Amino acid sequence: MHDLIERIESNVRGYARLFPAIFDTAVGSTLSDTKGRSYIDFFCGAGSLNYGHNNRYAKAALIDYIHRDGVQHSLDTVTAAKVAFLEAFDQLILRPRGLDYRIQFTGPTGTNAVEAAIKLARKQTKRSHVVAFTNAYHGHSLGSLSLTGNQYFHSEFYGSHNNVTHLPFDGYLGPQDTSLQLKKMLEDRSSGLPMPAAVILETVQGEGGINVASDSWLRRIASLCEQHDIRLIVDDIQVGNGRTGRFFSFEQAGIRPDFVCLSKSIGGGLPMSLVLIRPELDNWQPGEHTGTFRGNNLAFVAAAGVLKHWEDVSFENQIASRGELVFQRLRGICDRYRDADFRLRGRGLIWGLDVRSGDLSSKIIRGAFDKGLLIESSGNQDQVLKIMPALTIELPLLDEGMAILEKAIDDCMAEGTSGVVQQVSPAVVFPDLSMALGSCSMEGQN
Ligand SMILES: Cc1ncc(COP(=O)(O)O)c(C=O)c1O
Repeated sequence: MHDLIERIESNVRGYARLFPAIFDTAVGSTLSDTKGRSYIDFFCGAGSLNYGHNNRYAKAALIDYIHRDGVQHSLDTVTAAKVAFLEAFDQLILRPRGLDYRIQFTGPTGTNAVEAAIKLARKQTKRSHVVAFTNAYHGHSLGSLSLTGNQYFHSEFYGSHNNVTHLPFDGYLGPQDTSLQLKKMLEDRSSGLPMPAAVILETVQGEGGINVASDSWLRRIASLCEQHDIRLIVDDIQVGNGRTGRFFSFEQAGIRPDFVCLSKSIGGGLPMSLVLIRPELDNWQPGEHTGTFRGNNLAFVAAAGVLKHWEDVSFENQIASRGELVFQRLRGICDRYRDADFRLRGRGLIWGLDVRSGDLSSKIIRGAFDKGLLIESSGNQDQVLKIMPALTIELPLLDEGMAILEKAIDDCMAEGTSGVVQQVSPAVVFPDLSMALGSCSMEGQN
């Protein structure tokens, strides 16, 4: 079977190399492969499975919907499935938070939401420039790619560097307040920065190395955007949907973005993307930004299903207790290997252990995989182990996964890192990562 994959699937495949197994079934936080091995999942479909594999609410609703021949494809016509999702989202997410947003359904993957948001910002400001941040990751279609920092994904001839300036994210220059740089450049019309249509950011950079923006920095950026009539786009594709402890990652900072991009876990495991738009900024003309697969009905059904978790007032506490468990275990590892100068960053249930070397993280990931744990890395050198279990993971399983991770780290540290490293992480899939500068260390819990 692997021969077939090598022969027939494009060389572009990445995670298939990181996790060399043929996965077959999955429930909650456990996957099984065709050889009957099971794995605990701390990878979580890169943030698409916050509610676990085959989530019980989503599964029951999907079986019922398919069984009764519910409409599957409908472009953006109104279906009962869409109405049910909108009702659930309004009642369980927007209203309790006092948020008033219109919802635009885009094509099904995250980058589609980013494209729509920057296009709308450009349309309404009549400006083309966008400010993004160092280590940002916003996707791979050409507009989103221009916002993604990592140079491995860029080439001059893609023409994707146009109309974007990357400025330092919070923590990129150590303790310096990097919002001052944006402020100065906006105020000084000789700075060379064209007045942007939008500023786009992740409050916690998932692919960029779990870099956590402080609430105060986010508030300063939001206020600059307001002063200069620039659209603030929060890309909550990876760290929304409860990942940082509340439904939206920006809630804690008390800001209200103009546009919010949501994808990954919003679809309850199925592809779905949307942009939240402040109502007064929704000046699309009917059908002006379109696409065949907007609002996948099966995803609406699954999405409405998983939103039931938010009916439970203790859900946020459950996320917090799981986050605390992960944090404590990782802190113990940092203490044990003080000389190695590991760094710990994160919030809610997304944690990054920066082991300071892509080789070491690759080795740990391989060791963990061999012991039955799926985990990936992120960061400019793939040096950050990304710990991102499902929000719904059972505590004993979480504990077991953390024990496997610890053991994998202990084994690697006992061995030393001087031997030949068989790299299996994206460091091999994406060799020659050339993002400038070292890691941005917003250490600890924000
Ligand atoms: C913050 C963020 N934005 C956008 C994307 C792109 O999403 P997709 O890969 O679904 O296009 C990702 C994917 O990892 C992401 O993490």
